[in-house]
Amino acid sequence: MIAQTLKWIGGVDGFLELIDQRRLPAELVRLQCADIGQLYEAIKTLAVRGAPAIGVAAGYGLSLAMQQLKPSADTAEAIAHLEKSAEYLAQSRPTAVNLFWALERVKNHAQTFVSENQNATQTSLREAVLAEANGIYAEDVDMCRRIGENGQKFIKNGAGILTHCNAGALATAGQGTALSVMFEAQRKGKKFKVYADETRPLLQGARLTAWELKQAGIDVVLICDNMAGWLMKQGQIGAVITGADRIAANGDAANKIGTYSLSILAGNHSIPFYIAAPSSTFDLSIKSGGQIPIEQRDADEVRFFGDRKIAPDGVDIYNPAFDVTDAENITAIITEKGVIESPSTEKIAEHFK
Ligand code: MRU
Repeated sequence: MIAQTLKWIGGVDGFLELIDQRRLPAELVRLQCADIGQLYEAIKTLAVRGAPAIGVAAGYGLSLAMQQLKPSADTAEAIAHLEKSAEYLAQSRPTAVNLFWALERVKNHAQTFVSENQNATQTSLREAVLAEANGIYAEDVDMCRRIGENGQKFIKNGAGILTHCNAGALATAGQGTALSVMFEAQRKGKKFKVYADETRPLLQGARLTAWELKQAGIDVVLICDNMAGWLMKQGQIGAVITGADRIAANGDAANKIGTYSLSILAGNHSIPFYIAAPSSTFDLSIKSGGQIPIEQRDADEVRFFGDRKIAPDGVDIYNPAFDVTDAENITAIITEKGVIESPSTEKIAEHFK
């Protein structure tokens, strides 16, 4: 069973229902976002998280924003409101480019709709906005499946696969990116074991990936982040597969903090290191990973383990949510269009031509 992470309920006056990922694995509960403020909070506090899922949610956020319009507002006022709402949602998290990509896409669609339809009304514009958000959702489902199909060949029968954070169904509208590769390998009848890094400080690996893989009947072993190197040394890992939050034009890839260290460890042990991501995660406007903004999160995420304080008062804390893996450490990037081996600016440009 693959989790349905996001679901728009109803028509233009509808709302977004999300699996509240803050409460997994203890409880599988759904959160209703009926206005843009609730959606902003859901993204910021990681009720919905993972780059593609954030993008899909943001698209629907603009549909929620349109519900705030006065019935008398004309299309020019509606577009101005949409632009302001997109700016607001863009403040929720800085690293995953899917957020900005989806906001731009819905905004551009609405602007084009109004400029090309002289008879456009607020109602028809609201329908166009929702249709575009639905389009982003449907494409994400399709991209996830294709990523899995393109990447499953990298999972050899009997292999141990290491993953970090959560790049599964919970992080997308479909069956995930890195985990989609595993789901498709499972569909092919391959037997393999997945080692899931717990992923401190917010434990997406322990709480979400281990939960998802268990639900799917995939053999999963949970490890602390600092155990990966030792497993590699013992020959237990055949490949590392993770997702990404933003990939620069040269292939440098931002992902959950700890991914960079894994890429170095994998290189040292001659283990292939794969990134699985849809085209919506590429930011071809930036040349390299140094330009990717890295989210810094609250010190309490490190200071506490659950409700328990685990560090002395007054100690300085550093809590970046992401790091950047250099393209040269990446064996291949798996996208919905195919596989980019030894990624470089030229190969990525060719891939998306
Ligand atoms: O802070 P999060 O949980 O949103 O971070 C998520 C990740 O780093 C994922 O690996 C990435 O978004 C890829 S999801 C398909």
